[in-house]
Amino acid sequence: MTSPARPAAVVVLAAGEGTRMKSDTPKVLHELCGRSLVGHVLAAAGRLEPAHLAVVVGFQRERVTAHVTGLDGRVVTAVQDQQLGTGHAVRCALAELPDLDGPIVVLNGDTPLLTAETLQALVNGHVEAGNAATVLTASVPDPTGLGRIVRDAEGRVRRIVEHRDATAEERTIAEINSGMFAFDAKHLRAMLDRLTTDNDQGQEYLTDVLGLLVEDGHPVAAMVAPDYRETLGCNDRVEFAGLRALLRDRLVTAAMRAGATVIDPASVWFDVDVVVGRDVTIHPNVQLRGATVIEDRAEIGPDTTLIDTTVGAGATVVRAHATQAEIGPEASVGPYAYLRPGSVLARKAKVGTYVETKNARIGEGSKVPHLTYVGDATIGEHSNIGAASVFVNYDGVKKHHTTIGDHCRTGSDNMFVAPVSVGDGAYTAAGSVITEDVPPGAMAVARARQRNVEGWVERRRPGTAAADAAAAARRVASGEGTVEGSIPPATTDIPGSGQ
Ligand code: UD1
Ligand code: CA
Repeated sequence: MTSPARPAAVVVLAAGEGTRMKSDTPKVLHELCGRSLVGHVLAAAGRLEPAHLAVVVGFQRERVTAHVTGLDGRVVTAVQDQQLGTGHAVRCALAELPDLDGPIVVLNGDTPLLTAETLQALVNGHVEAGNAATVLTASVPDPTGLGRIVRDAEGRVRRIVEHRDATAEERTIAEINSGMFAFDAKHLRAMLDRLTTDNDQGQEYLTDVLGLLVEDGHPVAAMVAPDYRETLGCNDRVEFAGLRALLRDRLVTAAMRAGATVIDPASVWFDVDVVVGRDVTIHPNVQLRGATVIEDRAEIGPDTTLIDTTVGAGATVVRAHATQAEIGPEASVGPYAYLRPGSVLARKAKVGTYVETKNARIGEGSKVPHLTYVGDATIGEHSNIGAASVFVNYDGVKKHHTTIGDHCRTGSDNMFVAPVSVGDGAYTAAGSVITEDVPPGAMAVARARQRNVEGWVERRRPGTAAADAAAAARRVASGEGTVEGSIPPATTDIPGSGQ
């Protein structure tokens, strides 16, 4: 094949409101699989490496302009104040560009499934044939509302007729105009000046350029899209859902072809930038969003959402929600874990059940198995955090850091009141509130001593089942059998206080 032809410009039409979305947000900014509608079109267009990339904006133009220029620094915008038609919109775009030679590609801003490969084939075919215009067409299941391709007896493209302007006979034509074209720049400019508003909508139709070119004897052709779905536009939220599912199928299928097992593809959602490695297993109900990366042999789900998160090779993540987290190789997360931004788990680290982490580094082989909050902390290697602990990071005004060393064993139900540190090899007792640094190798005990008030229940709750049980236990212990014994006297001693 010849080298890909680079267009002089790609023009993306995105001035419309998208009334049928019933939204405060312009249609082209609504998302599918982690990218806006117009973002999908720009991603494909950008891969053609056009000399100019123009977007026609109108409705909420400040918002759309900020969005598209943020997506691609090459984008220039052209303002179309009133929507006077697709031909008028292209004229507005050309007014912002220098006098161009070569192919100009025109795209609608609402076709998220189009691929760069199809666009490149359209441009190459257009250039090789030396056409004045080449339109991308398709046969769709329901052509209602779309422009139809009118061909002559020899099958040559004559013109495009809009559904609302078409005769009953023309409406039986199944081949539709996708709204994607390659034009020769000079011819396009000349014909745009000749457009009229002589149609049902009183608009300047870009589609009329083809008929005018044919009338003047210039070569015009059609390329049929390899898959009609690439040409589908998106007008309301029901159509968004349909195209989103098709896009999901494409992304999940690509992951499976690249060596991932997906148990239930219909319940799995990937964003466009997600990367999934070989021999990964994805269980049902998994959403991988943003720039999430799953390395080889990791096992994800069921019931897991990962956003901008990296999962290392061989790790397992079960019933978890993670945002901007790094999960190391062979690490284990969940079931029921919440990893917030800045959670970094080293190799073989574990964040278990009902555990929340935030801005926390958990060293190699260290475990936070149960019912714990770890916020603003560094945990060294091979340490174990007891169940039901809280890293108390917030004094009501500022956040503070806790450091736990290597090979520590902290007791259950500990509070680590930051800023505080626990040295390498140290232990802490269950129920401790750690407010002071613990030296390496020490055992920290930071809780009130237990005091038993003997006989309290029989004295203060007489006649209750508890008192009866206490009396029976006392008789058995003293060998009294059925004989009444005496209740121990009240005492304020704290047992063990003489140690
Ligand atoms: C257009 C085509 C139709 C084709 C269909 C494919 C024309 C006259 N008709 O019809 O043949 O089958 O697309 O989806 O071109 N836009 C502007 N400014 C305007 C008008 C439109 O920027 O003044 C933008 C819209 O925001 C949209 C795109 O152009 O992104 C297409 O416009 P739309 O009104 O949806 O055209 P259709 O009637 O669908
Ligand atoms: Ca449309």
